[in-house]
Amino acid sequence: MILKNGLILIGGELVSRDIALDSDGVIVAIGENLSGTEYVDLSGLWVMPSAVDVHVHLREPGYDYKETVASGTLAAAKGGVGIIMPMPNLNPCPDSVANLKVQQDIIDRDAVVKCYPFASVTKGEMGAELSDLTELAPIVKAFTDDGKGVNNLELLRKAMEIAKQNGIVIASHAEAENLGTTPEAEIVAVGREIEMAKEVGVKYHFCHISTAKAYEYIRKAKAEGYDITVEACPHHLLLCDRDIKDGNTKMNPPLRSREDMLATVEALLDGTVDMLATDHAPHAKHEKGEYSKSLNGIIGLETFLPSIYTHFVMNGQISHERFVELVSTAPAKRFGLPVPELKVGAKANLCALDIASAHTYTESEIVSLSTNSPFIGYTFYGFNKLTMVDGKVVWQNL
Ligand code: DOR
Ligand code: ZN
Ligand code: ZN
Repeated sequence: MILKNGLILIGGELVSRDIALDSDGVIVAIGENLSGTEYVDLSGLWVMPSAVDVHVHLREPGYDYKETVASGTLAAAKGGVGIIMPMPNLNPCPDSVANLKVQQDIIDRDAVVKCYPFASVTKGEMGAELSDLTELAPIVKAFTDDGKGVNNLELLRKAMEIAKQNGIVIASHAEAENLGTTPEAEIVAVGREIEMAKEVGVKYHFCHISTAKAYEYIRKAKAEGYDITVEACPHHLLLCDRDIKDGNTKMNPPLRSREDMLATVEALLDGTVDMLATDHAPHAKHEKGEYSKSLNGIIGLETFLPSIYTHFVMNGQISHERFVELVSTAPAKRFGLPVPELKVGAKANLCALDIASAHTYTESEIVSLSTNSPFIGYTFYGFNKLTMVDGKVVWQNL
């Protein structure tokens, strides 16, 4: 198969090239005027390595009325995301090898993109007892209790020690108890977790950081050479508390002040932010509505790439290379996942963004089971038209 006339990033420039794939979906040539038997026209589309989202809530097992592995991974495929890390706030919670297998069996049956599930730090994410971390460490890429902060600091230290011994990452939903979802809850938790991670020497990752002060702490710890990384989410870069409307603008951490939003942007632009992630968190219609009565969480996979492309790449604040690093290479490397690469000899793991056209995101096009997006009605450039995972087309809208 020949992917014809796609735009490819070479030496910082987007240039038109053909990509030839063999029958196994391996890239065998990238060049001009390639010929073959079957052609797909990608004129005007930016063909790049598929995105990697290390923060996704699929809701299966346990809450399949919000999202299933099938619907959530289809949303990923639609968004150009070829690899995801599903979060463990499920029922059963992947806190033991047997429980993880329940989730893994559904993934093996239904997933259309690659999934590397997190195991929970504590049993049932209840914060009282550690999960079977030693048994889980060889079969997962990372531990997290996302959805909740780990506030039992003795347990957290033990988890860090086990993660360190096994060379795997802990991802933190940093939220200090009794402070609600206030900025202080994040700031206090990030401050104390950095100190503990420094002492233990564990690979530590902060999820969805949203406050100026927390970025300041992380910036400093990284400058000191500690193995700490941080993700930012599109909603914390594009929206602030002035944008709060109904439940579709409610998530945790919540939309912060304009100052905190601008500090998140600054952290993105100065390199403090290592990677972007969606925190795709589907909830059913009856769980959303009026802001105060809604559950926390918004979907994000389908608008991930266009929202960032439009607001940071089109205006030159972020280069195309840096974009690929933020949405694909950096998260893959940090979590020990396969790194999607557009090169001869690699299986095709790619997406194709329509960077020339504006598109207004509508509720009716959503393929996720839930529709709780703050970006319905927003117009972005760079919506994805084609996703290939290991040489197979998993999404096409050409
Ligand atoms: O907005 C959120 N949604 N924040 C969380 O911490 C959990 C997540 C969810 O699972 O819905
Ligand atoms: Zn979280
Ligand atoms: Zn989350």
